[in-house]
Amino acid sequence: MGSVYAIFKFTLLFSTWYIRCVAQSNGVYNVKDHGATGNGHTDDTKAFQAAWDASCAASGWSTMLVPEGSYSVGPLAFKGPCKGVKRLELRGQLLASTNLNVYTNNWIDFQYIDGLIIYGGGIFNGQGASAWPHNECPKKWSCKLLPMSLVFSFVSNAVVKNISSIDSKLFHMHIFSSKNLEFQSLKISAPGNSPNTDGIHIADSTNITIANAIIGTGDDCISIGPGNTNLTILNVLCGPGHGISVGSLGKNSNEKDVVGLTVRNCAFNGTTNGLRIKTWKSSPVPLTAAHFVYENIIMHDVYNPIIIDQEYCPYVSCVEKDPSRVQIHDIKFTNVRGTSSSREAIKFVCSRSVPCASVELNDIDLHYTGDATGNATATSTCVNIHGRSNGNVKPSSCI
Ligand SMILES: *[C@@H]1O[C@H](CO)[C@@H](O)[C@H](O)[C@H]1NC(C)=O
Ligand SMILES: *[C@@H]1O[C@H](CO)[C@@H](O)[C@H](O)[C@H]1NC(C)=O
Ligand SMILES: *[C@@H]1O[C@H](CO)[C@@H](O)[C@H](O)[C@H]1NC(C)=O
Ligand SMILES: *[C@@H]1O[C@H](CO)[C@@H](O)[C@H](O)[C@H]1NC(C)=O
Ligand SMILES: *[C@@H]1O[C@H](CO)[C@@H](O)[C@H](O)[C@H]1NC(C)=O
Repeated sequence: MGSVYAIFKFTLLFSTWYIRCVAQSNGVYNVKDHGATGNGHTDDTKAFQAAWDASCAASGWSTMLVPEGSYSVGPLAFKGPCKGVKRLELRGQLLASTNLNVYTNNWIDFQYIDGLIIYGGGIFNGQGASAWPHNECPKKWSCKLLPMSLVFSFVSNAVVKNISSIDSKLFHMHIFSSKNLEFQSLKISAPGNSPNTDGIHIADSTNITIANAIIGTGDDCISIGPGNTNLTILNVLCGPGHGISVGSLGKNSNEKDVVGLTVRNCAFNGTTNGLRIKTWKSSPVPLTAAHFVYENIIMHDVYNPIIIDQEYCPYVSCVEKDPSRVQIHDIKFTNVRGTSSSREAIKFVCSRSVPCASVELNDIDLHYTGDATGNATATSTCVNIHGRSNGNVKPSSCI
């Protein structure tokens, strides 16, 4: 009897080992094989970390698989360098811990990875609602940052597609010092009144494409910080939120130029801004923001459809200082149509020390949603700007 049991036990052990071996030789690292429960409340952080570490260490292509289910996880560091292209197939939902004490920085960090594919239709749920009241940044210049949901730093040649990110505590995604990344078919959402829940923030990166995304948050849908080159944004639906924004630039002395941005076939619905460029006054170093193309854009009920603001200051305490030293030039707006919820549909307030140059308005058709008398005439404002307008431009151009 005992020996039969021993053989049975051996067979069981052997087949478990064999199955695991086969699975891993196919390069699939299932978080459940590493002990994840997927029950939505047990802390599965260790299992996720182990699955990533094993997948990263395996040579060639390999996949970390997160099956259907809800996984409660605290901070995770998906770090390279890895031995080959790594895939993360996310079918389930990840729930970020709501205990702020477990975080040192972000929720999920992807770092030093060359060759990464994230896909699978799953959800990153930042569970931000209980953290939002602790965010003091909208009120204070210096403040402790809440954890961001997904941070890509020193990542190259990556594709992130067909996933959702909801209710981040701070930004949903932050791309930093990375290159050749493509974001496709994303859904990003947080309530319109949640603080600093930017959809995608990009800084110090090059050759980044965001295509086919639906983004509705409490802050910028996409925000573009300093040091970026060659960014492409296509087919993005934005709203609610603060629009697609370059800036704020010119706050710190280590900032680099922003050169090369295309925003095409995008729509804004009920946002506070549409296409915005903003810079601080009194920039510590001179900087350039240039070669931006905005094309085929629809505005629906947008408060500032087109705006360049070089006197940006969200704090009551800002003192009038020197003009911005960020030179904005070669900015083209073509085929921008729809409605503005403020009369001033186009607003260019540039720096008096470095006026905006070569700004073009081509075929613009923006109407005010109307005042009490039904007057839907929109207006444009220009301060310190040079450039020209072509085709039909409504409101009539002030350039
Ligand atoms: C997204 O992933 C799900 C699950 O794998 C799949 O059924 C769906 O077809 C994918 N959608 C796209 C647009 O790739
Ligand atoms: C830019 O990134 C894309 C992937 O998003 C890649 O296919 C392309 O080769 C990159 N371009 C350069 C010049 O590296
Ligand atoms: C710039 O971006 C476009 C679109 O993604 C890409 O085709 C091109 O290779 C990029 N160029 C550089 C120099 O990265
Ligand atoms: C715009 O947003 C409003 C309010 O959220 C929504 O009811 C409407 O369907 C949206 N319109 C479009 C064109 O997406
Ligand atoms: C509508 O408003 C514009 C901008 O304030 C003004 O110039 C115009 O005279 C107004 N038209 C009427 C009919 O009141």
